[in-house]
Amino acid sequence: MALAFLLLGLGLFIIYKVIKCYALPPLILAGPPSASMITGNLGQIFSAGGMKYHGRFLEEYGRIFQIHGLLGDVQIFTSDCAAISAILNNAETFTHTEEYENIAHLILGPGLIGAKGPQHKRLRKMLNPIFSTSNIRELTGSFRGIANKLRDRLAGQLENDSPTKINVLDWLSRAALDLIGVGGAGYDFHAIDEEESNYTKAAKDLLPTLTSISAITLLIPYLPPSLSFRRRLLHWLPWPALRKFLDIIDTMDMTAWEVYEVKRRQVLGKEVVDQKEGGGKDVMSLAIAANERASPDTALAHEELVAQMSDLIFAGQDTTSGALCRTLQVLSTRPELQRRLRTEIIEAKQAKGLADLDYETLNSVPLLSAVCQEVLRLYPPVTWFDRTAQADTFLPLTSSLATPSGKHITSVPISKGTTVIMSVFGVNRDKSIWGEDADEFRPERWVEKERDEKRARVPSVWSSLLTFGAGPMACIGVRYAILELKVVLSTLLESFEFAATGDKIEWTLSFTMSPHVKGQDTPGLPLLVRRIETGKLEDQVIY
Ligand code: HEM
Repeated sequence: MALAFLLLGLGLFIIYKVIKCYALPPLILAGPPSASMITGNLGQIFSAGGMKYHGRFLEEYGRIFQIHGLLGDVQIFTSDCAAISAILNNAETFTHTEEYENIAHLILGPGLIGAKGPQHKRLRKMLNPIFSTSNIRELTGSFRGIANKLRDRLAGQLENDSPTKINVLDWLSRAALDLIGVGGAGYDFHAIDEEESNYTKAAKDLLPTLTSISAITLLIPYLPPSLSFRRRLLHWLPWPALRKFLDIIDTMDMTAWEVYEVKRRQVLGKEVVDQKEGGGKDVMSLAIAANERASPDTALAHEELVAQMSDLIFAGQDTTSGALCRTLQVLSTRPELQRRLRTEIIEAKQAKGLADLDYETLNSVPLLSAVCQEVLRLYPPVTWFDRTAQADTFLPLTSSLATPSGKHITSVPISKGTTVIMSVFGVNRDKSIWGEDADEFRPERWVEKERDEKRARVPSVWSSLLTFGAGPMACIGVRYAILELKVVLSTLLESFEFAATGDKIEWTLSFTMSPHVKGQDTPGLPLLVRRIETGKLEDQVIY
């Protein structure tokens, strides 16, 4: 029965793709030849080593070109700021792809990530104020608590004062889960305490498992739309990776409901708030409280609020741990920069007589900010995102483009149904914006006096970078993420020195970028970690 439905889904999928392919007028742009009759260039650009194709294609075909999608479908790949700005600021014409919406809805439920149109607007209207600067500032103490716990646990792993090889990815992933747990869901997963619960395991396994079943996710839009029906149907299929994936989403769903019930009782005053679990200032508590005050016609349903919790954990975990790992990896080969950062942090504390850096100081120490900006420019955790055109339209271009037929165009016609992939990586390294040294790690560029106006043309919600997207669907957690990075980095740099181990580290593409030791399947980032005495400048020995 399940197999029959799946085969029907597959049949409909193929028919739809073939019709779509013939219905679209041919595009006029250059682009790489197809690498496969079935997957076109998608197998190249979305493979683990996909970033080398992103770089190669951008270099060869420029800021906008066409690629081959599934079964001959033609898609656009672009790093052109004018085109991307037109797409991201026009959420009615350019929506998330059907595959994205369906898989987000299947995994996460009816939350922000899987929502579209007026539903998305409604959710965003309710949630935007909760992510305001003043609310995020209130999370500084909770984040510091998690960062201190991470520091103490790491210190416990070290052999005396000599450098010890530690898989920092493991620790930073746990910290990221606890940070989003406490600040986002108001729930301590105790991932740093090494209490592996069903939930921490599920959250850790979600993205790798999703990657391993990505073929089936393409078929989901062609199955009957009911969420419970789709989940039941997929449960019947005898595929171990799929079974594991469904168990993961069931565990996440169940925990989200349990946490929601507790939070709701706390917000309604029927249960005492645990100070260690966000102290009532976490995103979920604020969302539940706002929802209780909302009028019946604007209030969100319980399912929508529960789905927000899964959304936050899904969107905020691997992105944050990836950014933290990149920063420590970059610093591990730059002992002098580490020393300058440490000095900046300690001096800022001393100057203000603070035991811990507060929100305002974290945002005013220039070198820490510049290092975060430069890491997130050069190594964005999310390297691309896409949209599908819902109507025939034109994409404006930053400058005139010569097509293969010799015509000069200033905009590209896009037919309804065309998917456009936007390259964060390409925009963040565009030499016409960032200069000839765009591929170099140079944090100084963020503190130099003459701020280039060219950066102003980048569609952005943070620091003229596309790293957090732009427009009405941009990252809602951008301030949250930056605060997490600064709190964790300032805490760790004050207590430890980090150095490279000599292992060759490769970053591979799944939904976000993740580090691996070359030749190893499981993600990991080994670094040499050495303890230094907290808060003392003279103790800094560079090895
Ligand atoms: C360095 C860390 C992060 C990066 C690089 C990042 C990046 C992004 C990007 C690029 C998007 C937009 C995707 C698109 O337009 O298709 C996005 C969306 C989103 N992010 Fe983040 N993110 C990060 C951390 C976080 C955190 C910590 C949270 C939660 C507290 C979060 C919650 C979300 C949500 C809910 C969305 C969907 C927004 C919507 O559809 O309206 N993100 N993120």
